[in-house]
Amino acid sequence: MANHTPVLLQETIEFLLPKKGEVIIDGTLGLGGHAQVLCKATGSDGVLIGIDQDTEALSKAQEKLSGCQVHIYKNNFRNIDSVLEKEGTQTVDKVLLDLGVSSLQLDTAERGFSFKHDAPLDMSMTDKEGAYHLTAYEIINEWDEETLVTILQGYGEEKFAKRIAHAITEARKEKPIKTTHELAELIKQSVPVWYRHKRIHPATKTFQALRIAVNDELEALKEFLPKGWDALKKDGRLAVISFHSLEDRIVKQFFRNKKHGGEGVLINKKPIVPTEDEIHNNPRARSAKLRVIQKL
Ligand SMILES: C[S@@+](CC[C@H](N)C(=O)[O-])C[C@H]1O[C@@H](n2cnc3c(N)ncnc32)[C@H](O)[C@@H]1O
Repeated sequence: MANHTPVLLQETIEFLLPKKGEVIIDGTLGLGGHAQVLCKATGSDGVLIGIDQDTEALSKAQEKLSGCQVHIYKNNFRNIDSVLEKEGTQTVDKVLLDLGVSSLQLDTAERGFSFKHDAPLDMSMTDKEGAYHLTAYEIINEWDEETLVTILQGYGEEKFAKRIAHAITEARKEKPIKTTHELAELIKQSVPVWYRHKRIHPATKTFQALRIAVNDELEALKEFLPKGWDALKKDGRLAVISFHSLEDRIVKQFFRNKKHGGEGVLINKKPIVPTEDEIHNNPRARSAKLRVIQKL
C-alpha cells in the first residue's frame, strides 16, 4: 500500500510560509506529501531539494512532484552539507524535517518495522542491496545484555528494559530470534501481566528503541541541526516534526539555544500538535509535534 498521509500539513505550510521562487529542502521527502504542497507554492522559479535514504520512497515521491524544479537525492539528511555542495549552493530559504518512518515503510511487512506483521527483524530505512547495514536481527542476537538494556532504556524509555534484555539473551542461547512475532511474543512473556494488558502493546517501546538504534536516528538529527541551520539564509525558517519525546527534546534544546544566543526567533512558543480531527483521521499523527524557528 503506497500511501502516507502527511502529518500537520496545513500547519507546516502556514508556519514554514513557502513563497514564489524560494529554495526549500525537504530532508525527509518520504512519499512527497509535504513536498508536493511546498513545490506548488514556490512555483516554476522555485526549487525543491528532496532528500530521503529510502529509494522506494524517492521514486514514489518523484511521480507526485510538479510545479517547481525538483532535485532529488538519495542520502541521509545528516549529510545535508554534501547535498548542498552537489547543488552548488550554500544557502536556502526553508528546511523541513518530518521525522520517523513513513506509512509505506511501516506497512511493508518484510521491512520488519512493525509487530503487526510477521517478518524478519530488519528495520533499516536504507537499501537492502549493496553495502552492509545494521539490522535489528544483529542487535537482538549479537549485542550484549548490558548494551540491550542501555538501548531499551535510552531509546525506548522502557521501564522493563532489564527483564526484556535478559529474556532476549536467554532465548537466543537456544536459537536465534528471527522474526518480529517471535520477538514481540518473547517481550510479552517477559513483562508483568498488568503490563501486557495496557493500551499499547508491551513490545511497542522495544520496537521503537530498535528502530532508533538501527537507523542511528538521534545522532543523525543532532548532526543535521547545526548543518541545517547554517544552510538557512537570514529570515529563513527551519521546521521539524517529531514523533517522540527523545527527538522533540533535541529539537527544543537546539532551538532554545539559538533563541538565547540571539540568532533565531521561535515562530511557535509551544509545539504545534494535531487537532482531534486529524488524530481521528490519521492515528499516526497522534504524537506529532511541530516546532519552527526563523533565523535572524
Ligand atoms: C514520516 S516520513 C516523511 C513523510 C513525508 N513528509 C510525506 O508527507 O510523505 C519520514 C521519511 O524520512 C526518511 N528518513 C528518516 N530518517 C532519515 C534520515 N536520517 N535521512 C534521510 N531520510 C530519512 C524515511 O525514510 C521516511 O521516508
